[in-house]
Amino acid sequence: MCGIIGISSNKPVSANIMNSLKKLEYRGYDSAGIATLSDGNINEVKSEGRVENLEKNFDLKVLSGNIGIGHVRWATHGVPNSINAHPHSSENVSVVHNGIIENSTLLKKHLTNQGHKFKSQTDTEVIVHLITENLKSFELQEAITKTLKQLHGSFALGVIFKDKPDLIVGARRGSPLAVGYGPNENYLGSDSYALKSMTNKITYLEDGEFCIIKKDEVNFFNNKGKKINKKILELTSKEESYDKGDFKHFMAKEIEEQPVTLKTGIKEYINNINNDINIYNFPWKIEEINSITLIGCGTAYHSCLMAKYWFEELTSLDVNIDIASEFRYRKNRFKSDTLYVFVSQSGETADTYAALDICNKNKMKTCAVVNVIESSIARDSNFVLPIHCGPEIGVASTKAFLGQILVLYILAIKLGSLRNEIENKVYQDKIKDLKNLPTLIEKTLLIDNDIQSIASTFNEAKGSMFLGRGFSYPIALEGALKLKELSYVHAEGYPAGEMKHGPLALIEEGMPVVVLAPRDSYYKKTISNMQEVVARGAKVLLITNKSTDEVLSENIWETIEVESTNDDLLPFLLTIPLQKLAYYSALKKGYDIDKPRNLAKSVTVE
Ligand code: M6R
Repeated sequence: MCGIIGISSNKPVSANIMNSLKKLEYRGYDSAGIATLSDGNINEVKSEGRVENLEKNFDLKVLSGNIGIGHVRWATHGVPNSINAHPHSSENVSVVHNGIIENSTLLKKHLTNQGHKFKSQTDTEVIVHLITENLKSFELQEAITKTLKQLHGSFALGVIFKDKPDLIVGARRGSPLAVGYGPNENYLGSDSYALKSMTNKITYLEDGEFCIIKKDEVNFFNNKGKKINKKILELTSKEESYDKGDFKHFMAKEIEEQPVTLKTGIKEYINNINNDINIYNFPWKIEEINSITLIGCGTAYHSCLMAKYWFEELTSLDVNIDIASEFRYRKNRFKSDTLYVFVSQSGETADTYAALDICNKNKMKTCAVVNVIESSIARDSNFVLPIHCGPEIGVASTKAFLGQILVLYILAIKLGSLRNEIENKVYQDKIKDLKNLPTLIEKTLLIDNDIQSIASTFNEAKGSMFLGRGFSYPIALEGALKLKELSYVHAEGYPAGEMKHGPLALIEEGMPVVVLAPRDSYYKKTISNMQEVVARGAKVLLITNKSTDEVLSENIWETIEVESTNDDLLPFLLTIPLQKLAYYSALKKGYDIDKPRNLAKSVTVE
């Protein structure tokens, strides 16, 4: 992952670099650093941990200079410490890097033999020395073109040079990079979000391209070093809220925001006057699509799994799902009548992007379900279905998950109706129920207190399990993922019916087990599976929906009841207690909820 920023200006840049690094922290928070150029020197400051450490440890006044680069790191090569923090510098060159240099060991050996000395354990440092070496024999453009050819792997780079005090070089292969334009200054950044407070005029670099940025001029080059022209895009200047308001954490705010974000999503896709779904400019005829493949990572993958149940219920399409990191290396049989859907909050996830790229190269029909509409995945898909959630800052995805499943559900009912596979009355009823969903989520959010006390039991346990069947199974997986990423408790999500085939052996006296058993068509089966774990001493937290019928089972430790609605929509409601369980469990442990250890919000390495 990692985030990079560069500014070339007619005034000191360190304060703006620091501000941009704070925005980029969602890409990594293992260490941070800045390098500027002034009076013929490279000034470098670096700190382990957060940007706030960097700010505390160094006075920005030591960083004079009208040109500079900055970096936040998510460690790949070398432990997270200040030596491995970027920028990495030689006498003459300073580099920030996002990505992985796959041939770094070989290059390092070669450069060491030529007399270059390495200070860190990173792969990035080879770039510094390679550029330094190439500059001995070539002019800047040629030296950069040659260096980029020698690097294998993925990168976005920002480079400054002691003897070229007016320019920054940016380069991209695999990892995203944007150029921004301001008054008497220009910028380089991992994404438009980092640049948004300074400009809304952006150019995205494509793979293989590089650029030279001066305060009053930007030039672009292709992989052969030939000058090229590129378009400037104007981003929407829509105000988006990036602060926590009265909440202690972004995650808490994002959980509570869900009735509003769902309402916005519903408003964007549903026409209230004729109670219909609008999906404008869908680029294919409905008869051209006979199957659908949904691809994502982490929470986004769980959204794909959820959607599979709905698509199979509401259409006769063949539905496949895939984890992007698996899809990209398998021998896929591409079919022109398949719609390939890429689900990603950030729209920058490297594995998901690579899977999209393969589909594009095979000329497949591609559709992005994203939150960030300016992202690489959105830009390179044939069609985009935004989830309209607003910025999600907490590393653990919450409102984006509900946003993704909302859009996928809407697509499923629309396709079901267009293919005449659901009756008009059913279609209309489902839309009506959907419009009521934000209110039901609002009510379900009130179950706070019950969950706070339940969370302690999960924290004390060695491990926990999350079980569900049918529509509830993807939600069980998502609940387990939330708990492990936030409170570092071992949590396993499983189909309830599979327990007896092995995992039942894990159950022991007092082990907390969440059973998702809404009163849908799977209810009776799930309750039987629940009894199997109760009988073996598990402490069962049953999550079901409100009903006048009692749950016919004994020895349930705790029960939480969400609101009731049609079976399709119950997964939305079941998600809420699981998000809260993970939140309160991490809160009680005093962990960093918005930035859990070892993770980053946007995973731009494979
Ligand atoms: O930005 P994306 O949706 O592509 O991210 C995919 C995963 O990295 C992400 O969902 C991750 O699993 C979250 N931290 C889960 O909360």
